Amino acid sequence: MKNPTITIIGAGQRGKDVYASYLKEHHPGISIVAVAESDEIKRAEMAREFQIRPENVFSCYQRLLEGPRLSDAVIIATPDDQHFVPAQLALEKGYHVLLEKPMSNKLSECLKLAELARGRNQVFLIGHVLRYTPFFTALKQLLQRKAIGELITIQHNENIGYYHFAHSFVRGVWKSAADSSPLILAKSCHDLDILLWLVGKNCLKLSSYGQLSHFRPEAAPPQAGERCLECPVESDCPYSAKKIYYPRIGKWPTTVVCSEQTEQALTAALYQNDYGRCVYKSNNDVVDHQVTILEFEDKVTATFNLSAFTSDISRTMKLMGSKGEIRAHLGLNEIEVITFGSSSKQIIRPDLRAGGHGGGDTGLTEDFISLIKGEAGQALTSAEESVQSHLLAFATEESRLTSKSIDVKQYRQAMIKGL
Ligand SMILES: NC(=O)c1ccc[n+]([C@@H]2O[C@H](COP(=O)([O-])OP(=O)(O)OC[C@H]3O[C@@H](n4cnc5c(N)ncnc54)[C@H](O)[C@@H]3O)[C@@H](O)[C@H]2O)c1
Repeated sequence: MKNPTITIIGAGQRGKDVYASYLKEHHPGISIVAVAESDEIKRAEMAREFQIRPENVFSCYQRLLEGPRLSDAVIIATPDDQHFVPAQLALEKGYHVLLEKPMSNKLSECLKLAELARGRNQVFLIGHVLRYTPFFTALKQLLQRKAIGELITIQHNENIGYYHFAHSFVRGVWKSAADSSPLILAKSCHDLDILLWLVGKNCLKLSSYGQLSHFRPEAAPPQAGERCLECPVESDCPYSAKKIYYPRIGKWPTTVVCSEQTEQALTAALYQNDYGRCVYKSNNDVVDHQVTILEFEDKVTATFNLSAFTSDISRTMKLMGSKGEIRAHLGLNEIEVITFGSSSKQIIRPDLRAGGHGGGDTGLTEDFISLIKGEAGQALTSAEESVQSHLLAFATEESRLTSKSIDVKQYRQAMIKGL
């Protein structure tokens, strides 16, 4: 196939601004021929910018996917709780599918999708972009060539960043586990996926602990208002919506707060929508810190620390092996390799690739297109592998909620039995 045609389902930040925009700029021969988007303004913008014929513009994916197939592939980038149905319908209709992570916010649905995809001659990729970053690729290659001997243990930190957490997980669409996903799934199915990929072995057991410690009414200063624009103690608060959004007009995360990127429109939004609310009074329930301990086959272990309370938005990792140590900082794009007994250190700065998530968005999109075209794509991920990382996320949450260690194999069997 020379130039596949694409349908976008959910033309928001990922569907339109990341995937569709990338294809327009880098693959002008590939047409976006149809869209399903529930927001009227975004739908009209998408149709205009990509010159989509009116009969191929839909307000909901259901109607689009009930009709005849309109393109070779679909990119599904709707909210977390609306992944399963469109993915299922699209696979059944014969579309190649790029589905944003998480596959679903229910484990049973992840397992069903993997089953549905098995044996089909269709591409089915999940948005696990980290595998496609030059940074994590370099780490994988170092482990493969035993640069630190046998891998013994990993310490991994996901530093969410205090204002990112306040924006997305206190005020934003991921603030409620029931309405979207638990934090470990929403934010960290990527990290569990990357741990599985780097270790290259099955995870056998895990235990997890975490709480919503800070962003709750009891932690509010006594004089705190309901909204930052009216709060007498706003100037002392690092999570103030004023401090987070006004300096970033025209950029993320302010672009999520209101469609028109002007000071006036932002002020109106902060008086009305959830992004202007006090972080201590936002009806949020997802945890703000979580620690997980994992044991893999061959006694490899890992700890994973997920935290809102960081200044940087980055991932940092220490990989410890029988003959050396690797310290890796995604934000700095720096990997330090130390060999025991040697006084020299090797510093690696992987080639930067343009695009979000350290170049992972670009790598994933390119791979999807190559695979559809039948060219030698890398297919660094598969539905089955994605199910593994999602399973770990659900097991981690189960462990946190029950304070029990989880045997991953038994957990999977119980889940399959319950389908
Ligand atoms: N791979 C990654 O690293 C990564 C990063 C960010 C977000 N995500 C995931 O991507 C997905 C989309 O996130 P986003 O930030 O683009 O959100 P978004 O809110 O910007 O976009 C979602 C879009 O879907 C539309 N929509 C909702 N219901 C619909 C329906 N029934 N039919 C058609 N359109 C519908 C919304 O109007 C919205 O425009 C989420 O699941 C999120 O978790 C993945």
